[in-house]
Amino acid sequence: MKSRGQRSGALASIFRDIALLVAIAAILAASAVWAAPDPSSIVLTGADRRPATSLHGDWAAIVDPYFSGLFSFHHQEREDGWFLNRKAKPGDTFPTEYDFSKASTLKVPADWNTQRESLFYYEGPIWYERNFTYQPREHKRVFLHVGAANYRSWFWVNGQKVCEHEGGYTSFNCEITSAIHSGNNFIVAAVDNMRREDGVPTLETDWWNYGGLTREVSLIELPETFIDQYDLHLNRAAGSVIEGWVHVDGGKIGDKVKVEIPELNAEGSSVLTAEGRAQIHLVASNLERWSPETPKLYKVKISAGQDSIDDLIGFRTIETRGTEILLNGKPIFLRGVAIHAEAPYRTGRANTDKDAETLLGWAKELGCNYVRLAHYPHDESMLRAADRMGLLVWSENPVYWALQFDNPKVLAKAGQQLDEEIGTSRNHAAIILWSMANETPNTPARTHFIESLATRARFLDSSRLITAALLEHAEGHTKIVDDPLGNVLDVIGVNEYIGWYEQRPEGADSTEWRIGYQKPLIVSEFGGGAKAGLHGGENDRWTEEYQANIYRHQLGMLNRIPQLRGMSPWILMDFRSPNRPLAGIQDEFNRKGLISDQGEKKQAFFVLQKAYKEKTIGKPE
Ligand code: GCU
Repeated sequence: MKSRGQRSGALASIFRDIALLVAIAAILAASAVWAAPDPSSIVLTGADRRPATSLHGDWAAIVDPYFSGLFSFHHQEREDGWFLNRKAKPGDTFPTEYDFSKASTLKVPADWNTQRESLFYYEGPIWYERNFTYQPREHKRVFLHVGAANYRSWFWVNGQKVCEHEGGYTSFNCEITSAIHSGNNFIVAAVDNMRREDGVPTLETDWWNYGGLTREVSLIELPETFIDQYDLHLNRAAGSVIEGWVHVDGGKIGDKVKVEIPELNAEGSSVLTAEGRAQIHLVASNLERWSPETPKLYKVKISAGQDSIDDLIGFRTIETRGTEILLNGKPIFLRGVAIHAEAPYRTGRANTDKDAETLLGWAKELGCNYVRLAHYPHDESMLRAADRMGLLVWSENPVYWALQFDNPKVLAKAGQQLDEEIGTSRNHAAIILWSMANETPNTPARTHFIESLATRARFLDSSRLITAALLEHAEGHTKIVDDPLGNVLDVIGVNEYIGWYEQRPEGADSTEWRIGYQKPLIVSEFGGGAKAGLHGGENDRWTEEYQANIYRHQLGMLNRIPQLRGMSPWILMDFRSPNRPLAGIQDEFNRKGLISDQGEKKQAFFVLQKAYKEKTIGKPE
C-alpha cells in the first residue's frame, strides 16, 4: 500500500504531466495561429557570417504612387508585374512607360526619404532594379538576403517572382536558385511603405516612416543542405554546459552535426531528428562568461554535411529571482537609455557599423551597461556592436500602440516578425530581453494577443526574459502598474512622463509607485524635450535646463522604488518624427534626446552620466 507521501508524490507528478500537456496544447493551439503569412522566404541565423555577394550601390528607381506597375487599371495584381512585359519592342503599337534604363537611382541600403527632397514625406510604392553578373555553381542553392525592406516588398529575378514579404525591420531570405543564371541577371524589387490599419506597426507611430531597402541586400550561396538556424546558450543550472540545437534545411534523419569551440577545446556532436534538428550539449570548462565588464566572444564553428558556419558568440545566463534580475547568477541593475535606429548626423535609417559604434559609444560614455532598442528589431550591426562593446539589450517587436488586436491576420504578422527577430538574433549574448509590445491599450483582445506572442517567444527561446513597456495609471500621487499583461511577463517595463506630459518636474518628488507584481521593474521610458543650445530657467520648457531638471527629480523618485532593476530614459539622440512640428524647436524631430542628431550633448546627458558613473541610481550590485 503506497504511503501518503508516495501517493501525493505520484499525484503531483500526474498533475505535472497534465500541466505540461496543457502547456503544449496551448503552444500547439497558438502555433496554429502562426501559419507564416508568406512561406516564400526563410529565416537564416548568422546570415551576416556567411560569405555573400553584395548588391549594394545605386539601383534604378521608379516612384509609382498608384502602384500601376503591379496592379492593372482594374486593380488586379499581376503575378509577373505589368511593366516587365510592357517594354515596347520595335513595331509594337504601345508606348514604353516603365523603363529603368532611363530612371534615376536610389542608394541601397538606405531609406529613400533622406535621399531626395521629393521623397522626404513619400509613402507609397517605389520600384528598384539593378543588374548583376553571377556564376551559379553545381550543388549550390542561392538566396537573396534582405536585411530589411520597409514595409511590404516583392522581388523578381530575371522576371521570375521569387518572394514577397511584410514587415519593415526583420531580415528574410528568398531562394532564387531556379531564377538565376550564369552571366547577366537582373533583379526588380517593389517596396511599399504605406502604413496600414492591419499593419505591424499600424497607422500611428512616433518615428519617421523611412521607406525602402533600408538594410543590406546580398546573395548568399549555400550547399544543397545547409544550416538555416541554430541556438547555442549556457545552461542556467549547469554553469559550464552549452546547450541548444542546430537545424539543417534538407537534412536527413541521422545526419551528423558538430559544434566546436577551438579556444576552449570543446566540441559536441549529435545527429538530426526527422525534423532536421540536432540537440547540442557540450561541456566548456574554463569558459569566460560574457558580461558588460568582460564581453568575451568565442569563435564557434558549426558544421553539418557540406556546410559550416563560423560565428562569434558570448555565453552568459540571464534569469529572474523574485524582483531581482540575475546576470550570470548575480543581481544586476540595468543603467540604460533608449535608442531609435536614426543615423547620427546624416539622419535617416541607421544601418552601418559606424552608426552602431557612434550610438553605442555614446551610451557607453553615458555609463550605460544596457540599451533599449526601440520599437522594432535593429540592424545586425547594432547587435554585433552590443556584443563587442558589452551592452545588454532590450529587443522589441513593433507591436506599438493600438494594433488591430482582434484580427488573427495581424497576430500572424506579429508572430512572423517575432519568428524572424528571434530566429535571426537568438545567439547575441547582448540580448537579454524580448519585448512583446509598447504602450498598448489594456483590453482583453490586446492581452490575449500579446499572451499568445509571449507564449510563442518562450517556445522559440526559453533562455531569455520576456517583457513589454506598459502604461501606468494614477490614484492621487500614487502611480499604479497593474496592467493584466504583467502576468505573462518576466520583467515589467513601464513608461512614464512626469514633468513633461503631466505635472511639473518636481511632481516626481511626491510620487509613490504601487507595482502590482513581485517582479523586476524597468522604467523603460521617461524624459522631456529640449532643443540643444536653447538655454533659460529650469522652468522654461524646451530649454536644456528644464530637461536636466526633469532628470534630477526623476532620479530621486526612481531610487525610491524598491523593485526598480533598470531604466532606459527616452532617449539617447533626437530622432525624426512626423508628430513633432513645433517650428524652430522640434522641426519634425522628437527632441527628447540627451544628444541632438548632430551630436551636441545636452545638460541632462551629464546629469544622468554622473548618476550612472557614481552608481547613485539603483540598488548597489
Ligand atoms: C511614448 C512612446 C515613444 C514616443 C515617446 C514620446 O512613450 O513609446 O515612442 O516617442 O512616448 O512621446 O516622446
